[in-house]
Formats: sequence, structure tokens, C-alpha cells
Amino acid sequence: MKLPWRRASWPVRAEPSHTPVTHVAEPSARRRQLGRSRDYTGADLPERLRRWHAPRANRWVRILVDAGALDVEWLGADGMTAERLRPGCSRWIEPGLRWRIADSDAATRFQLEVHADESTPAAAPQPLRAVLLDEAPCARVDDTAAFARMLASLEPGMRCLVRSDFDFGDALRAAMRAGGDTLCWHPLQDADGQRVALISRSAQPIGLLEYLGRDHAVIEAALAGALRGNIERMRWLRNVLARHLSIEEDALFPAYLAAGGNEGWVRGLRNEHDRLRHDINHLDDPVAQRRFLLLLDGHDEKEEQIVYPDILMRLGGAAREISQRIMSTGSTGTQPANG
Ligand SMILES: [Fe+2]
Ligand SMILES: [Fe+2]
Repeated sequence: MKLPWRRASWPVRAEPSHTPVTHVAEPSARRRQLGRSRDYTGADLPERLRRWHAPRANRWVRILVDAGALDVEWLGADGMTAERLRPGCSRWIEPGLRWRIADSDAATRFQLEVHADESTPAAAPQPLRAVLLDEAPCARVDDTAAFARMLASLEPGMRCLVRSDFDFGDALRAAMRAGGDTLCWHPLQDADGQRVALISRSAQPIGLLEYLGRDHAVIEAALAGALRGNIERMRWLRNVLARHLSIEEDALFPAYLAAGGNEGWVRGLRNEHDRLRHDINHLDDPVAQRRFLLLLDGHDEKEEQIVYPDILMRLGGAAREISQRIMSTGSTGTQPANG
């Protein structure tokens, strides 16, 4: 079957002639490349690459070094291993393997590729994400006082699925401003007088990347319920996807392009948004459903691993203002992301 992302205008460079490091695990030949990063150098390395992190299930990351030296560490069964990658080297990082970049030199230049292992079928959203809504504690709040009590009881690290027939949007935005970016929400429903939102509090301020990644997780969690035939989850899926795409297209991408961002990447993402908007209306068709699942899975991963870090780097000090505007956005149609 011809895979849909092959038709996207996502830029694909000619395959480099990097020599693989031979003693490490490699993905099966049945893999598809989800995207490739910009050129990273020692001077503009995303901070997250210096911290321990790991590709999620079904994902492989490939490091391709073009120039200079890159010192990489990873945590295996035998403890920490360090390796210096030289120009022309490529190195696969398998799903779940924790790794970080330890050092580089002034000449270092490298890229990261993200691949999906096709031998594991993308038949459903990631399990950890799929339970996000199922396992959230629920609360019904009927007035401002009850809403304030719910917020006061929300400890750092907790989330709550809040249902209400009054509009708590303004009260929540005020609490978000007072909370120093540690409180966030994902509106799921705002229709017929019924509001539902997933509200969570963190110990640390929630940044732009983290919030958008959480929004992806909520979309995938709603999708998991929709695929089980849950009509409410299907309604939530439509709402959270519409809000997320609108946030990216109306607030995030324009700011990124104004800061000199990659026009080809944005064009490719917008094309994928259009296909997601089309296929979400045909999830009862098995072919369209599979296409939607694969496209959403790859799209989210590409944004989180490759595009969002570049957006954050280019926005610099403006990222916080855009992040706060995005996080305060209500359901689509109730408060536009650029309003
Ligand atoms: Fe997107
Ligand atoms: Fe996204």
C-alpha cells in the first residue's frame, strides 16, 4: 500500500553516506522515516538532548554526524556507556533506550532522524497516552466556589476531568495567571451548556513544548475511546483536534515563520492537518481509519521531536507569551488562538 506521508511535501534529503556503528541494535528493514531535524551544532543544541531521554515504543532515533565530534552516552543493562561519534558515523537509538549528548566541539554538526518500526502495527494510539482520560479522577463543579475548591485540592502532578454546566473559563484563566504557568487545561467540550476539560497542575512551569505534547496525548486518548465506539470520546476527539490544529495554524506557525522558520516544514504539516480533518469524518471506514491512525501518530512524533524544538529555538524569549496565549485558548469557536 502506498503510504500517505510519501505524498506530503515534507522535505527529504538524499540519503547520506554515513557509516553505521555496527555493534548496536538496528530497526527492522520495515521502517518508515517520520522526519529529519535541522542541522544541530554544539552552539545551538536543544537542552532536552543534553538530558536523559528515550525514543518511545515503536520509535527509533538515528544520529548522523557530518562534522566534528559528538560524545553520546546511553544507559543499558550494564550501566552507562559513552561513545564518541566521528564524521560519517550513524548511530541508532532503540525504543526505550535512555540516552543524552554529553559533549561536542566547535566543529560538530549532526542531524537526528525519527523512524517508526513498521513491524509493530500502529493499530491504536500509544497505550500510555490512551489511558490518560480513562484514569483521570473526575469532578463535577456547579458554581465558582466549587470550582475554586477543586483547583485548591489539585496537587502538583495531579489532573482532573472537570464537568460543569457553568462557564469556568475566566476563573481558570485567572488561576493560570496566578499559578505562574503551573496550571493548564485541555478543553474537551463546550456546547449545549455543558463544559468538560482536563485540568492539570505541575510542580514546575509548563513550557510550550510540554503543553503541546500533552495536547497530543489528550487527542490520542480521546481517539482511543472513539475507536472503542464511545460517542462522547468521539465528540471530544473532534473538539480537541480542531482546537489543536487551529492553535498551530493561527498562533504557532505564523510566529515561527515570522522568526525565520522552515516554510517547507510548515507547508507539509498544514497538508497533513487537511488530511486529518478529512479522515476524521470517515473513521468508520477501515481504510480511512488506518490512514488517520498512521498519519496522526507520525505527525505528532515529527512535531514533538523535530519541529517544536526548532520553533522554541527560533521564538527565543517570545515563546513564553505565545505559550500563555495558546494555553489560555478555549474550545474552538469560543476564543480564537490569535484573539
Ligand atoms: Fe500539527
Ligand atoms: Fe501538533
